[in-house]
Amino acid sequence: MHFAGSHILSVQQFEKEDVERIFTVADRMAPYAHRRRVTNVLDGAILGSMFFEPSTRTRVSFGSAFNLLGGEVRETTGFENSAIAKGESLYDTARVLSGYSDVIAMRHPQEGSVAEFAAASRVPVINGGDGSNEHPSQALLDLYTIRSEIGASGRKLDQLRIAMVGDLRHGRTVHSLCKLLCQFSGVQVVLVAPEALRMPAEIVENLRSTGHKVLESDQLEESISAVDIVYSTRLQEERFSTQEEADQYRGRFCLNQSIYTRHCEPNTVIMHPLPRDSRANGRELDDDLNDNPNLAIFRQADNGLLLRMALFALILDVVEQVDTHARDVNWYTGGRF
Ligand code: NCD
Repeated sequence: MHFAGSHILSVQQFEKEDVERIFTVADRMAPYAHRRRVTNVLDGAILGSMFFEPSTRTRVSFGSAFNLLGGEVRETTGFENSAIAKGESLYDTARVLSGYSDVIAMRHPQEGSVAEFAAASRVPVINGGDGSNEHPSQALLDLYTIRSEIGASGRKLDQLRIAMVGDLRHGRTVHSLCKLLCQFSGVQVVLVAPEALRMPAEIVENLRSTGHKVLESDQLEESISAVDIVYSTRLQEERFSTQEEADQYRGRFCLNQSIYTRHCEPNTVIMHPLPRDSRANGRELDDDLNDNPNLAIFRQADNGLLLRMALFALILDVVEQVDTHARDVNWYTGGRF
């Protein structure tokens, strides 16, 4: 695809070579994300960051990624702080805010809303999550993380074995990740969910019709015994009509160190888009996994910076200028990465 000026709305807009291109650019962002170098290639540019649903990592890492490239961020969070609460349409909001920004990152609870906004925007829009539909930048950082975690032991994305666990019906990260995995060959996906929270049929069908093996189960232990990756997810309680309805699935699949030791292969990598629910009745990934070297969740979150920097550099067409506008940092950076 042609990246310059493009919206990023769904992973389905990418060919395999586009994903490779994004990953190559992401690799080049490491000295900046890891605070060894600074670049001001986006000096003067403004990111409009519009998050109408709770967000920590996606919102902050989009903002930090833009700052790390030398740009500035203007932020709107929550409907209550926006004129949408006064009845303004997405169309009007997009027409106005795209005059104030060079690129926009947006999250919204309704499926399709970010695409609707993008259609009226005069600048590129990146989907930071539209309801249960898609979360393309998360899927890219997830796939990048999978590649680097399994790559360390010589394994490849082709023939990947992955278990996705939890609320697969509402989880937009797993929807986008499954769509992206269709680009590879011989992938085995084990989908672990309660009957009512199974992965949407068209996404399963899409995987099968592109030649991948899909198993569905509602048993955690047996499903994680022969996989490279366990990708755990949070119960998306905000997508249920009542709290009681959500509560019946809370705490259903809890992975802890003892289950890991008994059932997983020794180098199975544990991932989660985060936030994990650390409340006593949640705990889909127990805190006792924190010292497990295969717990990749914080490396995964760190990779969000690389991927989001890469997307900005590609969309604003500055990839080749990043290094020519750079210098070493002035401050002590320690051994953070
Ligand atoms: C996810 C999301 O918002 O879809 N979080 C994230 O962006 N890293 C997952 C979740 O909220 O459970």
